[in-house]
Amino acid sequence: MPWRLVVRLPAQTADADPAGDRPAGSVSAYREWPTGPEGLVRLYPRNPAPTLRVNFIASLDGAVTVDGLSGGLHGPGDKEIFDSLRMVCDALIVGAGTIKAEKYDALRLTEAARAWRLSHDLPEFPLMVIVSRSLDLDLEQLIFSDAPIRPIVLTHRQARAERVAHVADVIAVGDGEVDLAAGIAALHERGATQLLCEGGPALLGSLIARDLVGELCLTVSPMLVGGGPGRIAAGAPGLVRQMSLRHILSLEDMLFLRYARQGN
Ligand SMILES: NC(=O)c1ccc[n+]([C@@H]2O[C@H](COP(=O)([O-])OP(=O)(O)OC[C@H]3O[C@@H](n4cnc5c(N)ncnc54)[C@H](OP(=O)(O)O)[C@@H]3O)[C@@H](O)[C@H]2O)c1
Repeated sequence: MPWRLVVRLPAQTADADPAGDRPAGSVSAYREWPTGPEGLVRLYPRNPAPTLRVNFIASLDGAVTVDGLSGGLHGPGDKEIFDSLRMVCDALIVGAGTIKAEKYDALRLTEAARAWRLSHDLPEFPLMVIVSRSLDLDLEQLIFSDAPIRPIVLTHRQARAERVAHVADVIAVGDGEVDLAAGIAALHERGATQLLCEGGPALLGSLIARDLVGELCLTVSPMLVGGGPGRIAAGAPGLVRQMSLRHILSLEDMLFLRYARQGN
């Protein structure tokens, strides 16, 4: 079954419309969209300006997990988008809670994705950035022990950086807490401007509170999960920000929403 593009809005470039028969911004009945990485890259491009893109999956009733993991929400198409977002980013940022819960492997990418990156003058692998205040991390976990390039641990200045320094570069920002804005600025200084965050909810809640989210790619999984699991953002209530729809893509019963902050 093909991808179906339901809505595309003007911030996308008109030349990315393969059908070319409707003006950008029109609401079409389902329109087929090319499968494969290039089709997705046109819908989820690298942005001209530095940005933080966040990628999450949730059930229809807003659950972020089934039985404590996101895997129970997965369905057709989300792996392709997940892989495509990783392929185009400069750095992947993930909270320590998600690294542990989801047993993250090293960020290696497929051979095709690495070839795509090299052909677009990007380093073969994106940076892997783990956010941790406590540095209570399993350094035997594959994300460290099998890493093709040294991961970065983003922590605060009082953290015992020597604990992880043999397996990762350390960026220490903030006093007692990780200063996420300063961490992002430090990544920009290293040339990583296209940042992708895969969560989890505690980290997303903090990023929203600091108004650091440029884009949210949300997969809606066609399931009702009921009470229990949390939402995609957790923590103290904070800022409320209006976002702007960029597109709706669907595959079978899955919906893929891309929202960006206005001006992005
Ligand atoms: N549905 C989805 O798309 C999706 C995506 C991701 C995760 N998940 C699920 O979410 C759960 C894990 O999420 P989580 O919320 O527990 O953990 P998380 O957001 O992945 O990580 C939280 C951890 O990040 C570190 N941290 C450092 N500074 C922080 C700051 N300023 N704000 C927030 N965190 C900071 C802390 O690590 P230390 O404790 O080391 O100090 C904190 O405990 C799992 O069940 C996972 O399956 C679902």
